[in-house]
Amino acid sequence: MRHRFRILFAVCGLFITSVAVHDANAASRKPVVGKKGMAVAVEPLATQVAADILKKGGNAVDAAVGLGLALAVTHPSAGNIGGGGFMVIRLADGTAVAIDYREKAPGKAHARMYLDEDGNRAVNPAISFTRQDGSTFHPNTNRIHHLAIGVPGTPAGFALALEKYGTMSMAAVIQPAIELAENGFILTERIARGLNGRRTIFSQIPASKKAMMRADGKDWQEGDRWIQKDLAETLKRIGQDGHDGFYKGKTAELIEKDMKAGGGMIDRTDLANYQAIIREPVRNVYRGIYETFTMPLPSSGGITMAMMLNILEGYDLGRMGHNSSSTIHVMAEAMRLAYADRARYLGDADFVEIPGHLTSKDYAAAQRSKVDPFFATPSEEVGPELTLATEPDETTHYSVVDQWGNAVSNTYTLEGGYGSHIVIAGTGMLTNNEMGDFNPDPGITRPTGQIGTPPNLIEPNKRMLSSMSPTIVTRNGELYLVVGSPGGRTIINTTMQLILNVIDHGMNMQEAVNAPRLHHQWFPDRLRIEGGVGREVLDALKAMGHDISSRGFGGGSYRQGDGHSIMVDPDTGYRLGAPDPRIEGAAFGH
Ligand code: DON
Repeated sequence: MRHRFRILFAVCGLFITSVAVHDANAASRKPVVGKKGMAVAVEPLATQVAADILKKGGNAVDAAVGLGLALAVTHPSAGNIGGGGFMVIRLADGTAVAIDYREKAPGKAHARMYLDEDGNRAVNPAISFTRQDGSTFHPNTNRIHHLAIGVPGTPAGFALALEKYGTMSMAAVIQPAIELAENGFILTERIARGLNGRRTIFSQIPASKKAMMRADGKDWQEGDRWIQKDLAETLKRIGQDGHDGFYKGKTAELIEKDMKAGGGMIDRTDLANYQAIIREPVRNVYRGIYETFTMPLPSSGGITMAMMLNILEGYDLGRMGHNSSSTIHVMAEAMRLAYADRARYLGDADFVEIPGHLTSKDYAAAQRSKVDPFFATPSEEVGPELTLATEPDETTHYSVVDQWGNAVSNTYTLEGGYGSHIVIAGTGMLTNNEMGDFNPDPGITRPTGQIGTPPNLIEPNKRMLSSMSPTIVTRNGELYLVVGSPGGRTIINTTMQLILNVIDHGMNMQEAVNAPRLHHQWFPDRLRIEGGVGREVLDALKAMGHDISSRGFGGGSYRQGDGHSIMVDPDTGYRLGAPDPRIEGAAFGH
């Protein structure tokens, strides 16, 4: 059962601390107010870690790193040190950078590594599942297998962010995470249910069984204390030696040993060579006074969002109305066009030549001219040579603003929920299955959704294409929004809608987060819409030729994303935090 937590106001010295922990049945329309700083994330204990750092005078980067490390303990499905992600930082002086800590393919990886001798998708013979009819099957090796694991990037990304833009030591910001792992924390019903839901897999992997299941083999219960001693030791090594405390020494040895035992490829050379990279964010001006700073490749998020915003700039969305049939129609068409280009052109820019015109306003105008105002364009007409694969829905986004106006937007992931489900023996650490984000089968594109196009094929040391889109928006050059979301390929659309809801539809941050979302990704040619959009709007869209799927938040099962966001009020400078009611989320301000 989900608990409803009301907004609490606690007087804390001179500060007013405001808190909100949300769930889908108790969606507030008002954001949480902080006069100085704000942290918004999926899980309250980790959000509190960030709030404490901010209150003690740490900056947004200190708080964001502390938060990410704490989530590795308290939000095991996506919080991680064994995965990767992206952090967009905008400092109060206007400096903006994007930290790329995406996983990499190991040095021995190659384009056909997920195919067996007959050219079929290889499966993991060591893990089996039972179907309802009693038959068994094995997962693909790019999902649950040591081969699915990309070289983790999170410890490197956090160490780099802290070293370049933080004010505190790694030892200090990681201490709360160590304590949460070492002393344990009390499981909520959501976390217990999540862990229990994966017991079939965890129970088949000895180190995962030890780390993720109750010692007596019974289901976790709400209220149980979960202690993660091995993870605490792994975190301590990062606390002592930063980057090297993970990529060299004991942790690196344990990873290599587990890889050898499980048939994986990552070795100590891959780990020693891993570096997070500081990149230029994708910058794009929307409606003259708003500038978006978001992730460049290897995330497709920045370029794809810029392409869509540039197309949509040509419409008066505010007058057309929020989630009206005409607004949804032009949004879906912009999504269709941009996602087709995403599939056609985008991959790791360190390996692939990317056309320069994609984010230009001229290109957007040409694309806009293809949008029929009355009818949906069949996706086959927008690039018949390609289709897309599906992705699972587990990642997490958080937003932080400090008292000086430094801001961090961070999205990171294990890829699928609990990633590869493989805990490296002796580390307590779950690993990602990010290799599944590469196109698995060169040249093979199937109508069921698999793509085999060249830009995102596996190459040694290449980063797999992502959709994660942590974004910061300024208004007249001043910090305005910190937004982002999980959700696989829906991420880019969710993040864009958070922005449009505020800028074009005049919503406050919480309303913008709560509002029903939509998603089109070109293929499959289907428009997904969360519940809460009127029947007459859906009927009008169907009449235009859209294949509609609407089940959702407030009525059915389709939920899109988890967009924990912050707006800085232009008049007062207050930080307005908006946790997403689609999941337990928390906003703590001071
Ligand atoms: O990098 C990506 O785009 C995906 N691996 C993210 C997966 C994801 O968001 C699943 N989430 N809910």
